Parts: sequence; C-alpha cells; structure tokens
Amino acid sequence: MTTLRTGATPEVRSLPPAPLNPLPRREQIRALRRFHTGCETLRNAGGPVTRLQLAPRWLMPPVVVATSPGAVHDVLSRHGTLVDKTVVHAEMRHLMGRNLFDLQHEDWTPRRRALQPVFTKKRVEEFSGHMAAAAESVTDSWADGAEIDLDTESRRLTLRALGRAVLGVDLAEQASSIGAPMQIALSHIADRTGAPVKPPRWFPTPARHRARAAAAELQRIADRIVRACRADAGRDAPLVRAMMAAVDPQTGAPLTDREIADDLIAFLIAGHDTTATTLAYALWQLGRRPDLHERVLAEVVAVRERGSLGPADVPALGYTVAVLHEALRLCPPAPATSREAVCDIDVGGHLVEAGSMLVVGIYALHRDPQLWADPLTFDPDRFTGGKRPDRWQYLPFGAGPRSCIGDHFAMLEATLALATIVRTVEIVSTTAEFPVEVPFTAVAAAPVTARVRHR
Ligand code: HEM
Repeated sequence: MTTLRTGATPEVRSLPPAPLNPLPRREQIRALRRFHTGCETLRNAGGPVTRLQLAPRWLMPPVVVATSPGAVHDVLSRHGTLVDKTVVHAEMRHLMGRNLFDLQHEDWTPRRRALQPVFTKKRVEEFSGHMAAAAESVTDSWADGAEIDLDTESRRLTLRALGRAVLGVDLAEQASSIGAPMQIALSHIADRTGAPVKPPRWFPTPARHRARAAAAELQRIADRIVRACRADAGRDAPLVRAMMAAVDPQTGAPLTDREIADDLIAFLIAGHDTTATTLAYALWQLGRRPDLHERVLAEVVAVRERGSLGPADVPALGYTVAVLHEALRLCPPAPATSREAVCDIDVGGHLVEAGSMLVVGIYALHRDPQLWADPLTFDPDRFTGGKRPDRWQYLPFGAGPRSCIGDHFAMLEATLALATIVRTVEIVSTTAEFPVEVPFTAVAAAPVTARVRHR
C-alpha cells in the first residue's frame, strides 16, 4: 500500500485544482472503462487536465485525466517517490506475483537496475536469432491465395519468437495454455479495478477462483522454464540466461529464481499482445495501401533479397520502421496508463492532491488534431527523414522512469517480422475496419482478415 505524503511546496498548494469534468457521472464511468477512446471523450468535455469524482472521497479518490504533452510530462517524468503505481498494479501483484511491471517504487528500483542492461539496444540483438525464423515459419504455413486472420497469425508469430528465441520453449505450441489463463487473470484484474465497490480480495467468488487457477497455471509454466534452464546449461534460452547472469550493479545481488519466474510472466503479459497488435495493425494498413506496401517491399529487397534478415539490416529499413511507428501512433497497444499521486503535485498548472489516481491518455495524445496534421490518416512519412514528434506527444512505450523496458526488443522483433512477411507475400486486407477492445492492452476485437499471395 502506498504511504501518502504531503510536503508539497506552498506554490504547488496554491495552484487551482484540476477542473471537474462536466459530463454526467454515468458517461464518465463509461468513458473510463473505454481505455482507448474514453480519454478523448473526457478531454473533449473537460479539457487536457480534467478531474472526475465518481464516488464520495472516502470510497474512491479523485481521478485526474491528463491528455496534453505538458500535463503528461508532469505525471510520467516524476520520481517514484512522488507518483507510483496504482490499485491496478496492486491487484496484479496480488494475483500474479511481484514483477517489474507491478512493483512499487522501492522494490522496483533494484529490480530495474539489474534488468536494464539485459534490454539495451545492443543486448537485445542476442535474442534476435529466432525472430526472423519465427516470421519465416509462420509465412511458410500460409497457402498461396489463402485468407488469414492477421491478428491470430501475428499472435502466433510473436509467441513463437518470444518463446523459442528467448525462453527456450515453443510457446506457439502451447498458445492456448498461455493465452487463455493470461486473458482470464488480466480480465479479472481489469474488472476489479474498474468496479467502484468490490468484495475484499479473499472473498470466494467464482471469478476469483478462476483467476487464481489461471495465475497458478502461468506461474507453473514460468517455474518450469526456469527449472529447465537451471537443469540444462546448454538450453538455448538467451533471455532466461541473461536474467540468471544479471546482478544489481549497486549491490551485486543476483535475481532469485522466484524473481526471474515472476518477471517472465511480466514479459509474456507486457510483450506478447502488444507486439502482436502492432504487427497486425501495420500489416492491415499495408494491405489497404498498395503504395505503402510497395515502398516497404522495395526497401526490404534492396537490403536483402534472400536469406534471413537480422539486426544488422535494421539501420537500412528506415521506412519499415516508420510504418511501425505510425502503427504505434494510431493504435497504441497501451492506450492509457495510470499512476497514483503519492504527495500533492502540480499537473499542467493544477494542484493534484495526494491519493488521486492519475490517468495518462496516450491514445488521445496520438490522435489529437491540435498536435497532429490530419491525425486519422496513416502516414509513415511523419517519421521519415529524421523527423521525430515531440517527446511528450508520442509515447507508445510510455516515458520517464517506468517506461517500457522492452522497447528495443519489440521494435527489433516487429521490424524483422514485418520486413520478412512483406518480402515473402503480398497482403490484401479484406476487412475495412480494425476494431479494437482493451481487456488489458489493446487487441483486435474481431478477426482482421487478409488474402496472401506468395511472391
Ligand atoms: C509494441 C510493443 C510494446 C508496447 C507498445 C509496450 C508499451 C509499454 C508501456 C506504455 C509501458 C509503460 C507502462 C506504464 O507507464 O505504466 C510498458 C512497460 C513495460 N513493458 Fe512494454 N511494451 C511493448 C513491448 C514489451 C516487451 C516486448 C517487453 C518484454 C519483453 C515489455 C516489457 C515491459 C515491462 C516489464 C514494463 C514495466 C517496466 C517498468 O515498470 O520498469 N514490453 N510497456
């Protein structure tokens, strides 16, 4: 539980509170439950820093939604002693263990220090060995002229890449034994945190029983992976090996097997659906835009016409990377993120009181017409020729101390996969929409079909 502190400067205390959102309470609740479009709705009605008081304060703290670059900076750049993880993360810790994603500041600091060197741009290249191979094996399984579901296939691909390359097992073969429990556990966390009034955690409900069984199953899988790596020094599992070798540079302490297993679950949760959705969305857009598809193809063929693509090819795949950046802009897999104010802080020129829940609308920022020309058009050239949007208006991987540790990993994997697929097949999207739902991260809400023709 967070210890709330006061101690803000008199200047902060004299700031006006964030204005109350004028929407009726029912609409506010509905908007908060729609993690992606909800923040846009709240911003349009109440401005870039807007406050919701959904229940009496003793029952529920105020929620402050930030959707301008300045306000988002004020939330995410703050040190963990000022803003920390929230009830959502407490629910996750309780159900799924103490991992890098859900730990609170004090426990998180040494864990991140130990793991950061494992995920640098250079180090993740060690995990790339099977990334292109995973993409090749998935495209090889497509019959010429077949109609495929881009979402299912991308999910298969990222699970195979993450599993075989990194953890030393073929997770794609166990896709249902991982995907189903993960979905049950994450939906339970989302349901509990979305409910203004909820039973205590120990209260035996059928939903709790299912969620605990699902979490236990994931833990068994992660424990098995760690045990297998300890038992067989020759097992090809670069990420697990790197975690076993990692130490906190300040104390020299290694990670325990429990910590490694808990973090493997975090990597599965944070790294699988997210990368799959990005890839599926990019492929869907290319499948509707032959001009962009051709540009990617020309670039990839110029880099390497045959043979597996690898990290050394990535610097020459600038347009392919721009397509992925644009996919992450329009369909950010983490459309919103949250924090709790540990003490009174200023956000966008407003006082936010200790204990308030802070929501950062990433999706809303990425589509804001005040920040982006023609925001709903898919245009990878926003990211070509060295153009980079402002740091605080484009944050698919978050920002500040708790930003994504897997960003280089995800970009490498998605780039090699997209380039390999486009070089192998032509894609024609057969659905006009990419409907999104956000059970935890953004995923396709329905099949996203496309016809593939081998080149
Ligand atoms: C396209 C793919 C990905 C996207 C869009 C994404 C997005 C994000 C975002 C926005 C955060 C910050 C959450 C917050 O502010 O609370 C985050 C955190 C995190 N991500 Fe990713 N992620 C992706 C891939 C990955 C991969 C591949 C891994 C691991 C292999 C990973 C592991 C993590 C972890 C462990 C955290 C928590 C970091 C911390 O608190 O220290 N992510 N991710």
